[in-house]
This record gives sequence, structure tokens and C-alpha cells, in this order.
Amino acid sequence: MNILILGSGGREHTFAYKIAQSKNCNNLFVAPGNAGTQKIATNIDIGVTDFDAIKTLVLKERIKMVVVGPEDPLVKGIYDFFKGDDALKDVAIIGPSKKGAKLEGSKERAKEFMMAHQIPTAAYAAFTKETLKKGKVFLETLSPPYVLKADGLAAGKGVLILETLEEAKEELEIMLGGKFGEASTTVVIEEFLDGIELSVFVLTDGENYKILPTAKDYKRIGEGDKGLNTGGMGAISPVPFADEIFMQKIEERIVKPTVNGLSKENIEYKGFIFIGLIKVGEEPKVIEYNVRMGDPETEVVLPRIQSDLVELFTAVASQKLDTKDLKIDNRSASTVMLVSGGYPEAYEKGKTITGLDEVSDSIIFHAGTAITENGNIVTNGGRVIAVTSLDSDYKKALKKSYQNIDKLHFDRMNYRKDIGFDL
Ligand code: AMP
Ligand code: GLY
Repeated sequence: MNILILGSGGREHTFAYKIAQSKNCNNLFVAPGNAGTQKIATNIDIGVTDFDAIKTLVLKERIKMVVVGPEDPLVKGIYDFFKGDDALKDVAIIGPSKKGAKLEGSKERAKEFMMAHQIPTAAYAAFTKETLKKGKVFLETLSPPYVLKADGLAAGKGVLILETLEEAKEELEIMLGGKFGEASTTVVIEEFLDGIELSVFVLTDGENYKILPTAKDYKRIGEGDKGLNTGGMGAISPVPFADEIFMQKIEERIVKPTVNGLSKENIEYKGFIFIGLIKVGEEPKVIEYNVRMGDPETEVVLPRIQSDLVELFTAVASQKLDTKDLKIDNRSASTVMLVSGGYPEAYEKGKTITGLDEVSDSIIFHAGTAITENGNIVTNGGRVIAVTSLDSDYKKALKKSYQNIDKLHFDRMNYRKDIGFDL
């Protein structure tokens, strides 16, 4: 089968790495891809939301499966675009319908869904410009810190946590005044949950599901989880504190009601659910849904999946996921992201990356990289390379990643040296 992966990050290189190993994959394409995917697949320079160009490519190359990496095309309805076109409707899309993608596309919708299906989450209320005054009154009923969330997609920047009531009221007004454009026309105010975070990934065909390995990512740029938010600076899988009892609670109270809820609401969903959770005391609560895999969580979750990914995806498309087994590598995986100096603020691109061929016992996943005309691999984004390792525990795996990072270099390369510090 010919397969297309949409996206260009470490997540997509990891998908390409796994899919290229499958006996069920003939020709593999990645759009737009990076220097890493270029080595194992054919990169096609089209955008992930250019549906017409994607259609032309799929027909020309007889592509039968499209694996969607990022949320943007999902929220914009790529699934529905394919299913509504006679020439494309038999192509398997790994990703939810537009209705399903709203669980990530709208925080208010996600909260309503959780309420409707009794899924544990923080108490909340949603406000618009017209109800600003009520929003301020609602804030007065909460205790600090205050959590304000732009309803729509805001490139990971739409959540603000504020220490004082004054600041919270001020920010609410600024957000509703258009701070995040359309995305903050509605603002969700939430009860603050105090605990440790983790992520659970589910692959579902809309009726059946498999719980994939858990992961924990490290979002802040600075050590000790300080400083600005990033896409993610590293990750570990499995999460040591997610023991069997805790995972059972997650499955019974969160995963089952989520999948059943989608089915009851007749929402077509054939893809990943990424559940952002917080452990409050011994209880799991949902912070957010994403309708795709995480990055860099994918770089530790997929290398632990031993089953053939294309076989699993084929079963997802035909709604027969219950007939498949999921084989997981018992070892732990760790990944550390190498980023450009300055990221997540302004940074330069085009820096030559050296040492990649010297890495032996870690896996290199490319994120923001490109190949120049004379064959040099250069930086092409904020997050540049993820160095993943597997070993009997996450500390040993991390040690391998850090040892290999010592062999790698680019001008102003930066990374966190404390991944896993809180475990
Ligand atoms: P989100 O974009 O929804 O993942 O939120 C970004 C981050 O804000 C999360 O990873 C949490 O660290 C934090 N956060 C979101 N909601 C809450 C909440 N209700 N209580 C505490 N922290 C939260
Ligand atoms: N690493 C967080 C995300 O992919 O949303």
C-alpha cells in the first residue's frame, strides 16, 4: 500500500520510521517532511491544509492511507473532505472527522463533552464579550491561581495561569477583546487543579480502542520546568507513577466514556485521542483532549509499539481494531529535544548539524531540519532533533540520549539537561 504522512516534525519522522518498517507499506510519502523523512520516504513540498494539492497527490500516487500528524488539517475537516469526494472516499484517513476534531479545536466543546459523559475534569464556565461582567463575578467565586483558556487553537499559547484576581480579571477582558483573535472570542475559566501531569494515548476506530503507552512531556524551555512554554523539550514513556490501579481508573472513568461518548454522539473517529491528564491525589482528571499524537511524546510512544502500525491503522479504517493485538516493548523510552538558541522566541535557521552519523545506540528523529543543495543537514526550525533511547528504565535510557547528544553539534544548540527531574 502507498501511504502519505502529513506534517514535518519529530512526530512525523517517527511515524515514517515505524511505517517504513511495515511489510504493508510500499511507497511512503511525507508532506512536507524534513531531512529525516527525506532519507526514508519521498518528501512532497505541499502544505498540510492544502486539501486540493493533497487530493492531486493521492490520486497521482495511488495513495490508500493518509496519516495526519498535526491538528490543523483535522480541525479544518480533512477527513470530511476525503469522505465527501467519490474519488477519495475509500482512502483511509487516520484522524477524526471535523466533528471529532472539535474536541481539540474548541475548549468549550471539550468541556461540554466531558460534562455530558461524566468524565472527571476541572469545574468551569465559558464567557464571551457580552458576558464579560459575569466572567469577572465567576472569577470571584474561585480561589487562586486562575486558569483562563482561549476557546480555539492558539498555537499552544492560549492558556494563562494567573496568580491574582486582579490580573485574572484584566486578562479576561484582554482575551475577550481579541488577544488571540478569533480563538479567544470565547474564554473558558477553569478551577485550578494541583497535581502531576501525564498523557494517555488512545487509538480508536470509533467503537473499539487500544490504550497506547503513557508518556510525560516537559513543556517549559528552562530546567525545573521554568520559563516559556514550548512545543515540548523531552519526554519519557512509560510514566513511572501511572501504576495498574491508576491506569484502571483512567480506562474506566475516562477512556471508555470518551470512546462511548463519541459513538453515542455519532461522531466518526478513526485516529488518536491524546488525553492530557492531571493526577490530583490518586484521581485522574482530564485537562484537555488533543485529536492527534503529541510531539515529542510520539518519539517515545511509537518506538515502544512492536505491532505493525500499518496493520493497526488498516484495522482502524475498517473498524476492526478489536481483532488486533497491541504488542508493547517493556523497556522505557526517553527523548531529549535539541532546539535552536532563542527558541521559543526568535531564532536563526540554516545552522549545519554535525555528528549525526556518530550516534549508534539512540534513534535520531528529525524535527526542524532540511538538506541543503550540497547535502548538508541544517536547522530549519525551533525544535531541531529528538534523541530517543530505550533501556530497562528511563534513567538509563536518558543517560544514553545525553551521551549521544555530546556527539551532536550546531551553533547555539540548546537542550534541557533535567528531563524526568520530577519523577
Ligand atoms: P492546555 O493547553 O489545555 O494543555 O494547557 C496548558 C497547560 O496549562 C497544561 O499542560 C497544564 O500545565 C496547565 N493547565 C491547564 N488547565 C489547568 C487546570 N485546570 N489546572 C491546572 N493547570 C492547568
Ligand atoms: N507535546 C504536547 C503536544 O504535542 O501537544
